[in-house]
Amino acid sequence: MSLLFRALTPADLDAMQALEQAAHSHPWTRETLASSFGQRYFTGSLWSDVSATEPAPKPAPKPALKPALKSEPTLVGYFIADGVLDESTLMNICVAPVAQGKGLGRQLLEYYLAACAERGITQHWLEVRASNLKAQALYLSADYQEYSQRHDYYPTATGWEDAVLMAFKVYD
Ligand SMILES: CC(C)(COP(=O)(O)OP(=O)(O)OC[C@H]1O[C@@H](n2cnc3c(N)ncnc32)[C@H](O)[C@@H]1OP(=O)(O)O)[C@@H](O)C(=O)NCCC(=O)NCCS
Repeated sequence: MSLLFRALTPADLDAMQALEQAAHSHPWTRETLASSFGQRYFTGSLWSDVSATEPAPKPAPKPALKPALKSEPTLVGYFIADGVLDESTLMNICVAPVAQGKGLGRQLLEYYLAACAERGITQHWLEVRASNLKAQALYLSADYQEYSQRHDYYPTATGWEDAVLMAFKVYD
């Protein structure tokens, strides 16, 4: 599997919407996703040349007569961030459920932080569901620290849950 990192474009909206609905319990709407291409936002995405749901192709029994077709790249993850001066808020990050737990979320977060560094961003902010321990573990391992909580912020199937607010600052 080879991976490609690049910024998202409005042409990616269909793929983004499908991934958004698969990855999140309360997905953003298509309109909200589309608004991520405004001036202050920046994005990144991760594409795989094989569908993460497909098993690895078996070797051909005989030498192939024609070159193997390269499959269309599949969107397996993306981030959307709001950058203002030297601050960035990570608004959305997700990996396709079938591709989770294989290190792609970490690679995507590292790609995001590298994009921040290129923009001179030193202050990093995000909000995450209190129940989302998986994402929190990822953020903690990337230097984010919890600094506060927001009570009953996110809707759930049965009511509301708190947001954990996390941040870190890069010092020269
Ligand atoms: C959060 C998310 C982006 C992580 O992506 P991923 O590809 O599954 O993560 P990785 O395989 O790169 O793992 C990175 C780290 O996440 C944490 N993690 C991953 N799976 C975990 C699990 N099942 N339990 C606890 N921690 C877990 C670990 O800290 C892991 O690091 P380690 O492998 O060194 O222990 C992904 O689970 C996702 O898209 N979730 C749904 C959307 C979402 O919750 N987004 C965040 C909103 S704030």
